[in-house]
Amino acid sequence: MLEKIKETAQFLESRITTKPEVAIVLGSGLGGLVKHIDIEQEIPYREIPNFPVSNVAGHKATMIFGKLNGRPVMVMSGRFHYYEGHPMKTVTFPIFVMNQMGIKKLVLSNAAGGMNPTFDVADIMIITDHINMMADNPLLGPNIDELGPRFPDMSEAYSKRWVKLAKKIGEELNIKLQHGVYVGVKGPSYETPAEYRMYHILGADAVGMSTVPETIVARFLGMEVFALSVITDLGGVGPIEKVSHEEVLNAAKKAEPNMVKLVSTLVAQL
Ligand code: HPA
Repeated sequence: MLEKIKETAQFLESRITTKPEVAIVLGSGLGGLVKHIDIEQEIPYREIPNFPVSNVAGHKATMIFGKLNGRPVMVMSGRFHYYEGHPMKTVTFPIFVMNQMGIKKLVLSNAAGGMNPTFDVADIMIITDHINMMADNPLLGPNIDELGPRFPDMSEAYSKRWVKLAKKIGEELNIKLQHGVYVGVKGPSYETPAEYRMYHILGADAVGMSTVPETIVARFLGMEVFALSVITDLGGVGPIEKVSHEEVLNAAKKAEPNMVKLVSTLVAQL
């Protein structure tokens, strides 16, 4: 595993001239950020050694290097999901590679179902904490001691400093921001009404199928994490309505301009 991480990191390093300082994983709803990047290199995942191929509608599959608001960034346009059948180590492989390249700041984004009754469709939620309901963990198996501890601390999975900074930026830019707990589930089926209710009772405000594995690995590696959800449907609130992938993508599109503004401003200050 370590050899593969090093091989992929070396490959990417050989293709770029500017060392990225912040890594960004674009979920549904943040794809438009790409238009704001001064792109130096764009590499399709299929050309990157040890990368699997991702084929989910609404997700591209390229690694982008360039500058966002003046800051050198490495951007994953499209991520690997557990529900695609990838093992957790594959889902999180790019995070190991980012760390190997010396990147210690990670920004994650996703689309999620809202369960907090104060949420609306197309709201942006700052993730302050998570609950792992994926019944798996990317760190299972022999520990790579060179990279991190066997039992990593998760008491501040999402950087409090960055949450504060994002809230301040939200106020300054007049962007409505929610904050709350994200529960990560396996998917790919959306939740039943009873499941949405259960996750809300358990303490979660939003539910989605990504982010949790990436955060666990990033914290293991000692990276600082900031994450945002676009609330694309309201599962646990009021009368339950049908959820479709199309609806999720439409709601994400609606939030995109504010997501892009927030992330590009934040990245320059991280
Ligand atoms: N549940 C899980 N994942 C999701 C949802 C949801 O309601 N909406 C967008 N991604």
